Amino acid sequence: MRPFLIAPSILSADFARLGEEVDNVLAAGADVVHFDVMDNHYVPNLTIGPLVCKALRDHGVTADIDVHLMVKPVDRIIPDFIDAGASIITFHPEASEHIDRTLQLIKSSGCKAGVVLNPATSLHYLDHVMDKLDAILLMSVNPGFGGQSFIPETLNKLREVRRRIDESGYDIRLEVDGGVKVDNIAEIAAAGADMFVAGSAIFGKPDYKQVIDEMRVELAK
Ligand code: DX5
Ligand code: ZN
Repeated sequence: MRPFLIAPSILSADFARLGEEVDNVLAAGADVVHFDVMDNHYVPNLTIGPLVCKALRDHGVTADIDVHLMVKPVDRIIPDFIDAGASIITFHPEASEHIDRTLQLIKSSGCKAGVVLNPATSLHYLDHVMDKLDAILLMSVNPGFGGQSFIPETLNKLREVRRRIDESGYDIRLEVDGGVKVDNIAEIAAAGADMFVAGSAIFGKPDYKQVIDEMRVELAK
């Protein structure tokens, strides 16, 4: 398995000081910036778009930005995020009319692409697209809000997706998003994840470095 990546979700950051928050969390040892895009249509919440992604790049953020699209339709907004400096774009396949086309659209620009599966979304969406995936993101809460509790059944799904990735032989990140904390990250890693999105667990504490260090200690167990 490749090195573990910790990806703080800026959904739980202080939006009034977003540039500073991202600088601080990266200085604290985060690997990737997780950027949650919600449209008040696919999910019942409204967040940030390509302008904010570009603002972070203009601010000087050079780390990978992992754009998690919770929007429907999907394709229309993708070129704007590519222009805004996204590194990885993931989308919910049931929100796309043509999953293969959406993956090709993302990858045609050199951006990495992935699909996101909700807690009750079938793994059949992975059929026939494994060769085009750079990441699979398993939601361990229902999408739309930070600060929810990890759904334990996700661990079984993780094990199944890990098996599929290993059998496929493709180089695919297995990312988990929702309710990831210091006290469950080791169990989530043991089930097969290698990239961990955490919002409230990191931004909800005053010392980001302490939380990220504690997560790395758990991951090293
Ligand atoms: C939820 C988002 C998550 C969320 C995670 O729809 O995709 O990235 O911010 O937040 P926590 O870590 O607080 O569960
Ligand atoms: Zn997310």
